[in-house]
This record gives sequence, structure tokens and C-alpha cells, in this order.
Amino acid sequence: MFKKEVYIERRNRLKKELGSGIALITGNEEAAFNYPANTYFFRQDSHFLYFFGLDHPGFAGIIDIDNDKDYIFGNDFDIEDIIWMGVQPKVADMAGEAGVTNTSPMSELGAFLSNATGKGQKIHFLPPYRGTTVIQLSELLGKSISEIKNGASVDLIKAVVKIKEIKDEFEIAEIERAVDIAYLMHTTSMKMARPGVKEQEIVGVIEGISLALGGPVSFPVILSMDGQTLHNHNHSNILEEGRMMVTDAGTETQLHYSSDITRTVPVGGKFNSRQRDIYQTVLNAIVNSTDAIKPGVHYREMHFIAARNIVEGLKGVGLMKGNVEDAVAAGAHTLFFPHGLGHMMGMDVHDMEGLGEDYVGYDENTKRSDQFGTAYLRLGKKLKPGYVLTVEPGCYFIPALIDKFRSEGKFTDFINYNKVETYKDFGGIRIEDDVLVTDDGYRILGKPIPKTVEDVERTMAEPREFVRMEGYL
Ligand code: GLY
Ligand code: MN
Ligand code: MN
Repeated sequence: MFKKEVYIERRNRLKKELGSGIALITGNEEAAFNYPANTYFFRQDSHFLYFFGLDHPGFAGIIDIDNDKDYIFGNDFDIEDIIWMGVQPKVADMAGEAGVTNTSPMSELGAFLSNATGKGQKIHFLPPYRGTTVIQLSELLGKSISEIKNGASVDLIKAVVKIKEIKDEFEIAEIERAVDIAYLMHTTSMKMARPGVKEQEIVGVIEGISLALGGPVSFPVILSMDGQTLHNHNHSNILEEGRMMVTDAGTETQLHYSSDITRTVPVGGKFNSRQRDIYQTVLNAIVNSTDAIKPGVHYREMHFIAARNIVEGLKGVGLMKGNVEDAVAAGAHTLFFPHGLGHMMGMDVHDMEGLGEDYVGYDENTKRSDQFGTAYLRLGKKLKPGYVLTVEPGCYFIPALIDKFRSEGKFTDFINYNKVETYKDFGGIRIEDDVLVTDDGYRILGKPIPKTVEDVERTMAEPREFVRMEGYL
């Protein structure tokens, strides 16, 4: 946990932003994996972690703005719990570490809330993303399932986004720690990318690095020669010379801050000329779009810088043609770059996405595009110092999409379909960094992970080292 003052300050800010009522922030429960006592690894709710810090199941937090009081509801361990799990601190002691002095058993939460409602206090809650939380809120608040699903407080959502989107120095240090662990995950993946190796072997090793040095991976590892499938979780290929391999992976630190990094490498360690051309195109896109990051600019503009770079590069190899600006305005780049440039990152790898993407990535002045591809852009709004975001352009050859666009006669002024046909076996390339918006520009977070053609080839030629814990733990 951070110092208790951090949590007190965060709750005070929420009180100020929200103004009145009660914010009910539920923690997560254990979730059954294949039978009740065999649970998934426990992951606390990120909002509960942010405002109350306690990383254990079975808690709920109350921020009573009208009476300027905070509460933790939760049950002390009984002797049976202690037999299986060891001695645990008392709820009151744990709450004290988050600066909360009022604690009560969970069984009293329902009465507390109905008492507050009876006095005319409004109960604000965030959109629940687990079925068990929907049921819990329904029982606590005496509302139907659909009232809970549709009844989250927009005022609370907006207040939480406004506070959490700006990362403080302690959070940034945690995210950098997560990127440093990702450095080791990704350089290991590069060194293992040899012909004959099964993708799953690499996945296992890099997940192991994550667990050894931080916590679980921040999302299921994406690792495949079939990088044209954007979120490919099938790891059954045996690596072959002449193919590219995408690794999109990150870790969570012990305080649950994420990294989210992608690198794409040529199996065997040397780019051929076709791979080098497409790789350099994506590299230009990430370098140039990152370089334009600064407070006050819309992230949507960074997305279009990347799109123009992709079109320019593909024109250079004869896959596209025509005027670059016109091609991007028409959306022709989306055949090759059919996703957004990036998203906010924090405790959740897509930070706060459960509150609603548009609340996090857009605002009254910045509306989401409805153009195919660009509609997937998760972050479009104006940047502020303290935002941590990903920059992740890509270029993919997706046979089904090529066939669809071609059969529909789409973008024939900008796409050389006959040439594109010859790239249907190429796969895809994505490069992703985690970036902080600073007062006057940006900083790429963490130890630099090889990205240029030369650095990637040099790293792939190095022997793989065993994980060294020193300096990470
Ligand atoms: N790892 C999924 C993403 O890059 O957003
Ligand atoms: Mn990623
Ligand atoms: Mn990402």
C-alpha cells in the first residue's frame, strides 16, 4: 500500500468533486474457478484499491460526503479461516492503514445504506462488471438487477475519471517498474524467437518472469506468428523462419499498476527486406505519433499522424497509392490499421474501461468517430500532464478483411489490391510503448525496450539469460 495520507487525500478529492451523497465502492470477492473452493487468483477492484488500498476479498468502502466520514465494512477472520490461511490482521487495523477509523461487519452495510437513503442521501455506485457484484448491490440497495445494471452514477463515474486519469509520481514510479519487468519479458521473447520453438514455450517463460518479478500478467499474453489476428491467444504454432512474431504482453506490479508493451520480431533474428519495409513503416508511425504528444493536443490527432505514416510507408512499397491525406480522410488506411492508436493505462491495463470508454477517452468536446477502424480509438480527447497512455500503431494483412474490402470495391483509388494479395501470408506488425504526458511533452516510460531494426536484431543475437531478480524486486 501507499502511505495512508495518499488514500485520505484521494477520498477528500472525491468528496470535493462529487459534492454530496454517499459513494459506495465495493471490493471484489473470491471468484470460483472450477469449483467453489478452487478460486482464480484474487484481483481486487481497481477503484476500491485506489480509494481504500486494501488488497483482500470481502470489503466494501463508504465515502459519506454529507457527513465527511469514511467507512470500511468487512468481517474479521474467524478461527477456521486462520487454520487455513494463517493469522490475519483485524479489519480495524487494515482500515487504519488506509486512514479509515470507522469499521463495521459486512452484515451491517445494508442497514447503513437504507438508513442513509431514509435520510434522503443519494447512494452513488460505479458500473459493476461482475455478476456477483450486481447481485450484491441489488440486495444491498433493494433494487432490481436491471436497475443496478443501468443505475450507476454518472456523477461518480465522471468524478472518478477526473481524479484517476492524472497519475501522481508514486503511481508513475509503479508503472515504470511494470515496464521494466516488461523489458525482461520482451527481450526474453525476442531471444527465444527461433525456428522450431513453440509459441506456448515463450508464453510460459514470459508469464513466469511476470510472476517472478511482479504479479500476474496484466492481460492474457498475445503472442503469435499470426499477428494479423489482433488479440491472438492461440499459441500453438511452431515458429518458422521468414515469419514475424508479435508479442503483446505486460505485467502488474504488486500494487497492481500495469504495463502494456508490444514488439514484433522476425523469427530467427534477421529482417528480410519485405519485413524491414513494413516494420520501418510502423516504427515511423510510433516514433512520429509519440513525438507529437504534449498537453493540449487531442490524442485523436496522434492517431491520424500514425495513419498518415502507415499510408506513406505502404505507398513506398506499392501497396497503396494516391494522395496520403485523401486516403486517410476516406479511411483507406483502416484496411491495414483497423484499430485505435492507444488507450489510457493505470491499474487497469485499459484504465477505467469498465466505467465506459467514452467517459475515459472522450468528453463533451471530443466525440468518437463512427468510421470503421477509427471507431475503435479508445482515447481521442485533449491530453493533460499526468496522463499515462499507450501508443500502439500496427500494420496487418488480414485476408478476410482484404477479401471483404476488395469484393465491395472499397478504396480502389488508394489500394493496389493485386499487390496486397501477395502479402496475405505476411501476418501483422504492432509496436507499443507506454508513455507519460509531461508538462511540456512526453516521456516513454521504463527501460527502453529494443525497437529499431538494428536494436531488435542485436538483441535477438544475444544469448538468453536467466531471470535475475536483483534490481527488480
Ligand atoms: N494488450 C491489449 C492492448 O494493447 O490494448
Ligand atoms: Mn498491448
Ligand atoms: Mn494497449
